[in-house]
Amino acid sequence: MKRIEELKDIIKGKKNEENPKAPERELPAPSKMSMPLSDVFMRRRSSLDFSDAPICDEDLVRILWAADGLNGKGNNENHRTTPTTLNWKEIDTYVVKANGVWLWVPERRVLSFVHEKDCRKDFCLLQPMVKQAPVHLVYVYDQAKTQGLMTDLAMQIVQFINRKNITKMSDEVMAHAPLLDTGAKVMAVYMACAALNINCLARLTFDSEKVHDTLQLTATQMPLCVQTLGYKPKGLLDLAF
Ligand SMILES: Cc1cc2nc3c(=O)[nH]c(=O)nc-3n(C[C@H](O)[C@H](O)[C@H](O)COP(=O)(O)O)c2cc1C
Repeated sequence: MKRIEELKDIIKGKKNEENPKAPERELPAPSKMSMPLSDVFMRRRSSLDFSDAPICDEDLVRILWAADGLNGKGNNENHRTTPTTLNWKEIDTYVVKANGVWLWVPERRVLSFVHEKDCRKDFCLLQPMVKQAPVHLVYVYDQAKTQGLMTDLAMQIVQFINRKNITKMSDEVMAHAPLLDTGAKVMAVYMACAALNINCLARLTFDSEKVHDTLQLTATQMPLCVQTLGYKPKGLLDLAF
């Protein structure tokens, strides 16, 4: 409790600064995952069984790096481990843990603090077994990130190529892009978990409105998928439920 009070004081202090910025927790550099790719595909599986043990930062950062990490060099240093339509980078990854809600910031390899409440149960609807799992990753689409010069240019090119179907085509791109871009992250996380011997479950079963409130999202943001993670339980008494 004392630590939470300390954290609240830090947040209040930060908010009073001229340029308010949420406190950040730096994660270690991700170390290599060295399992052969064929073995990763052989081991990739969904599981509903999670140990209640927290996931250590060393493993968490490897999973987050797989979902959305920097893998570029030199002029391309902002390139990512997973692709997005028109390089929008419109999917944010929120990390929900016992010690609160955090936003993964790939550029600085930090977790940015959202709030301190343990609200893991808010991310479960039909599967009570997963509500105490140590980590839920929540993929959130931000429509605001799809607006801008590059998008306007791309849409103009589409218009030039195919004038008749421009509206239909751009509507389809806007509808499909966030779902496909999220799918790429879901698979990357499944693969990292397979390589790290961590159990994992992608889920569309959650109360979207509740998740929106719990994550304190804006009007342009929409949660699309939850992915629950936890170590394999050592036995029945180790299960998170
Ligand atoms: C996008 C997506 C959403 C899913 N949603 C749920 C879900 O809401 N509940 C659930 O139990 N499993 C969910 N799953 C897991 C699938 O049921 C699982 O992938 C499927 O049964 C195949 O099993 P496997 O992943 O072990 O190969 C989802 C998987 C994906 C890719």
